[in-house]
Amino acid sequence: MKALVLAGGSGTRLRPITHTSAKQLLPVANKPVLFYGLEAIAAAGIRDVGIVVGETHMEIEAAVGDGSDLGLDVTYLRQEAPLGLAHAVLIASDYLADDDFVMYLGDNFVVGGIIPLVDRFKAERPAAQIMLTQVPDPRSFGVAELDARGRVVRLEEKPESPKSDLALVGVYLFTAAVHEAVAELKPSGRGELEITDAIQWLIDAGHRVESTVISGYWKDTGNVDDMLEVNRLVLESLEPAVHGRVEGNSELIGRVVIEKGAVVRDSRIVGPALIGAGTRVSDSYVGPFTSIDTDCVIADSEIEYSIVLSRSSITGVRRVEASLIGKDVEVTPAPNTPRAHRLVLGDHSKVQISS
Ligand code: TTP
Repeated sequence: MKALVLAGGSGTRLRPITHTSAKQLLPVANKPVLFYGLEAIAAAGIRDVGIVVGETHMEIEAAVGDGSDLGLDVTYLRQEAPLGLAHAVLIASDYLADDDFVMYLGDNFVVGGIIPLVDRFKAERPAAQIMLTQVPDPRSFGVAELDARGRVVRLEEKPESPKSDLALVGVYLFTAAVHEAVAELKPSGRGELEITDAIQWLIDAGHRVESTVISGYWKDTGNVDDMLEVNRLVLESLEPAVHGRVEGNSELIGRVVIEKGAVVRDSRIVGPALIGAGTRVSDSYVGPFTSIDTDCVIADSEIEYSIVLSRSSITGVRRVEASLIGKDVEVTPAPNTPRAHRLVLGDHSKVQISS
């Protein structure tokens, strides 16, 4: 069995961060989202992984390498444009050959791994096995309609009037039968080859399509609120540890991790919170559910329920909340003009200012 991990796409919902970075590499508890998926695949005993990459291929390849650190043998498959999830299967068909495979969306986060799913698929070998979860508003998802026995009868991509509240989770299992389906597809209204159409094709052709409804936690980390929520969830199970230095009049409360080379001085950190390697925190408050990545500076500031990427600095600012701050960002107060906001923001930036 192989795995196909989708790490191309354009990530429009996470702009501006995804103008320069692959969204699959955004950190959750200071580890790229993509790595949680790759670890789940390795844990399920799968070694051969094809990673579909697009414009951000260099960054993904630099982060994952040949996969040997994770116990994987990774092959990169270049997709010239994000033409749909089924298009990714199409370009991977030579790599996948006749093998069964699990398709995993590289920006999805599934708690509890995929071992039970893979085991069930190996035992039953339907043409496709999908994972479903109940969502409050299914209109922005692929939605499944099941018959009385729980078999999938119909799938619809982002329907206006959904027939159920069961949304497709970003993990799918297929036999080689899917290649025939994918080869027959025409682009949808939004110009993509839809995986939901490929699965519908299998159903219409009389193939067996099974589903598992999961009650555990799943998130598509496609937008900022979901990223912050997944980060909160992962930080919940943080084991406290101090590998760096805590100096002066500092206080660490609850589950706090201070990575190697980090320095906390005259600051109060209320966990769960993670201070990355080489980061310096001084005269500040860092509140619950905050991940500060490597080599950042937090000085004379307050921050909570936020993610800060590497090499950024926040100086003299109170208070930052529910924020996702990219790499090499500087956040400072405006000098000598206390009632004015001075902003240098890239395209598609979002700022909320209390004034
Ligand atoms: P999506 O979140 O469906 O699409 P996207 O990355 O273009 O994001 P947005 O809606 O914000 O513009 O993609 C799910 C995953 O699959 C994600 O990791 C990107 C990847 N993907 C590909 O590799 N190739 C594709 O053709 C598409 C559509 C997505």
